[in-house]
Amino acid sequence: MSNRRWLISPGKGTSGLRVEQADVPRPGPGQALVRMRAWSLNFRDLLMIDGTYPVGHLRDIAPLSDGAGEIVELGEGCTRFAVGDRVCPIFMQSWIGGDMTDGDAGSALGGAIDGVMADHVVLDERGLVRMPAHMDFAEAATLPCAAVTAWNALYAREPINSGSTVLTLGTGGVAIWTLQLARAAGARVIITSSNDGKLARAAELGADHGINYATNPEWGTAARAFTGGRGVDKIVDSAGSAAMGQNLAALRRCGEIAMVGVLSLGQIDPVGILIGGALVRGIMVGSRNEFEDMVRALEFHRIAPVIDRRFGASEASAAFTHLRSAAHFGKVVIEAD
Ligand SMILES: NC(=O)c1ccc[n+]([C@@H]2O[C@H](COP(=O)([O-])OP(=O)(O)OC[C@H]3O[C@@H](n4cnc5c(N)ncnc54)[C@H](OP(=O)(O)O)[C@@H]3O)[C@@H](O)[C@H]2O)c1
Repeated sequence: MSNRRWLISPGKGTSGLRVEQADVPRPGPGQALVRMRAWSLNFRDLLMIDGTYPVGHLRDIAPLSDGAGEIVELGEGCTRFAVGDRVCPIFMQSWIGGDMTDGDAGSALGGAIDGVMADHVVLDERGLVRMPAHMDFAEAATLPCAAVTAWNALYAREPINSGSTVLTLGTGGVAIWTLQLARAAGARVIITSSNDGKLARAAELGADHGINYATNPEWGTAARAFTGGRGVDKIVDSAGSAAMGQNLAALRRCGEIAMVGVLSLGQIDPVGILIGGALVRGIMVGSRNEFEDMVRALEFHRIAPVIDRRFGASEASAAFTHLRSAAHFGKVVIEAD
């Protein structure tokens, strides 16, 4: 059995991306051997190859946290799965539920530990979830980071309800998953983009209002105006701290800003946060329990992930370059060949 394993050297960009042949690993007790069939890219993977990820791991690793595949062998004592089951890895391999611990942060795939970009990977069976039944491998590969992050932002701590208004920033992986998962709950969704064509596509997916943040620097004020002056209930901020001023202009009193992104960094003035009674919550993807809750919702609503483009495994470098161009809408996927 062939087992290609991709490696990156942080700081070298795509020129450091290479593939080597390795022995197919064997699962030990409690572990599963997964034949990977597809992967998806996250903005984090660009930070990782550039060596700029804020939690530094500057050694050569196998990239990518996200993928989907089928179990081909189980080690002794496994109880959660059977051979043939279709699964996704969870982003932090040890985070099952409750509050994230320091140990969980140290179990993040494609960062703290090797990622899943190989033909075969061995993972603890506790670090896997069953794929949604209606999805193919490429679709399920979009879930572990971006979709679970959106789910956590929308439904943990201060869950949205039918009739809530959600503001999501940009049209990348997290933002489009936020749109889809919020619409499924009956929430009203406002989305921003630097591209009017992407706003039109978001409207087709159910976005109630689109604002071009490149041509309208007061996009937060515009979002508030759309709510009749009340303000939005929840903001899923995949943009970063430079957006905080406009986030606060958009947010209703005592609403929540789920801090997700680091695309743009700026100073945060705490006065607006305290006067508005804003809840600012840092998000680190989510737990296995949240992933499993989300899978049930995806199956119930039969939600189809938005895949911008599918690359072959031999085109991995081009997939990274495409993500960097920010021309995409939704998720960029690599399929095993
Ligand atoms: N904390 C967590 O758990 C977590 C999890 C996942 C992702 N993230 C972070 O969230 C961010 C988004 O990740 P992703 O994988 O969804 O990225 P992505 O798919 O690469 O999306 C990037 C998109 O964001 C939009 N964007 C870029 N700069 C922006 C700005 N200044 N203001 C508003 N929108 C902007 C652009 O949309 P338009 O082309 O429409 O303008 C761009 O296409 C990254 O910073 C990533 O590291 C964090």
